[in-house]
Amino acid sequence: MRLTFKNSYAFTARKRASAHIFGDDLRISKAIGDFKENRPLAQKTVYTLYNGAIGSILSPPAAGPADRFRGGIEGPIALPVAPCPSPWESPMPVSDCELTRMFEHVLTLSRVDGTQSVAVLKSHYSNPRVVKAAMEASQRLGARVYGVELPSFNHPMAMGNDMTAYCGDTALTGNHAAQRALEAADLVIDTMLLLHSPEQEQILKTGTRILLAVEPPEVLARLLPSLADKERVLAAAERLKTARSIRVRSAAGTDFTARLGQYPTVTEYGFADEPGRWDHWPSGFLFSWPDEGSAEGTLVLDVGEMLLPFKSYVRDRITLEVEDGFVRRIHGGFDAEYLRDYMAYFRDPEVYGISHIGWGLQPRAQWTAMGLHDRNDGMCMDARAFYGNFLFSTGPNTEVGGSRKTPCHMDIAMRRCDVLLDGDPVVLAGDVVAPQGSRA
Ligand SMILES: [Fe+2]
Repeated sequence: MRLTFKNSYAFTARKRASAHIFGDDLRISKAIGDFKENRPLAQKTVYTLYNGAIGSILSPPAAGPADRFRGGIEGPIALPVAPCPSPWESPMPVSDCELTRMFEHVLTLSRVDGTQSVAVLKSHYSNPRVVKAAMEASQRLGARVYGVELPSFNHPMAMGNDMTAYCGDTALTGNHAAQRALEAADLVIDTMLLLHSPEQEQILKTGTRILLAVEPPEVLARLLPSLADKERVLAAAERLKTARSIRVRSAAGTDFTARLGQYPTVTEYGFADEPGRWDHWPSGFLFSWPDEGSAEGTLVLDVGEMLLPFKSYVRDRITLEVEDGFVRRIHGGFDAEYLRDYMAYFRDPEVYGISHIGWGLQPRAQWTAMGLHDRNDGMCMDARAFYGNFLFSTGPNTEVGGSRKTPCHMDIAMRRCDVLLDGDPVVLAGDVVAPQGSRA
């Protein structure tokens, strides 16, 4: 379905999508399909297109390049539109056959065979194509496969649809029977997202492996993991494991240091091939955590850095001042104000702790990809994994035995940084320079 506007602004609703409508004089003048209407629209208002009808107006965007477009919200509208496929039925560039074949590849790398049992964890928001492909690929490899479906869960404090925006409780919390069912499997394929939950850690402790797969098929295909990905990440991990300090610099003004060694090095290469291993398809990066209280300095988020779970690019510089392991001050323009307000919402001093820090090694992950996807498409692993990024985060560190249990977790990906371990560069100006085995 394509809607064309009088002033030539247009968008394509390929599936359920939020459409930001811009313009000084917006009026639908032409539409294809059954959508016929000619009426003024509220300026810069967000509409959500549902299957067969336009739903209610949600809200004006929180931010935009031109306040002059900020218009009032008109009441809910209901216009006839051509039937639109549901989000998971919409045309995708990856066929079901190809998706199943990719799962066979990743599950083979994850050592699934006829001796294994595989549980596919899902909820109502899981992509049914991904669930189906996971089930079929497991069967084709001879594994005994079963599904575990949990009801939806939403914490009252959670904002937005990104599942990483609220850490801690999940639909599995307190559901001991379902947890036992998952612990009984050799591998859990998580299409729901247990990340950062104590239940996930408990499952892993039993030796069960977990493979998270929540990105859309196009991303799964582009970032299909390989043994070469693992080798590169492990080569870098050997260096990070022995490092006792990290320093990060940038031309924009970042100068950040931390001691290392208190917490382990964690690798993500896209498949779960060892007992008790958690991994995420797609991935391709590594990280550790600063020793408690040791992170110091200034992190300057330049234009173009990526903020998750906002899934936004920084438009004006944000400066974070870090002391004793915590972000103490956030200043800059609108983006700084937004970040400051978001973190303050949780009313928890722990949200300001520096959490995992590391760098990206996945050359197929793209800095630009986030701009080409809807916010609700997935987690935007491109941002976390792109080659030569510096990825740092704030908030919880309980998954490695730390004491900070807090629901707010920001992942922030930076470009063009120098990353030095014990004074030796591993990344220079956003390019991976060492160890040699980690370079693409
Ligand atoms: Fe994170």
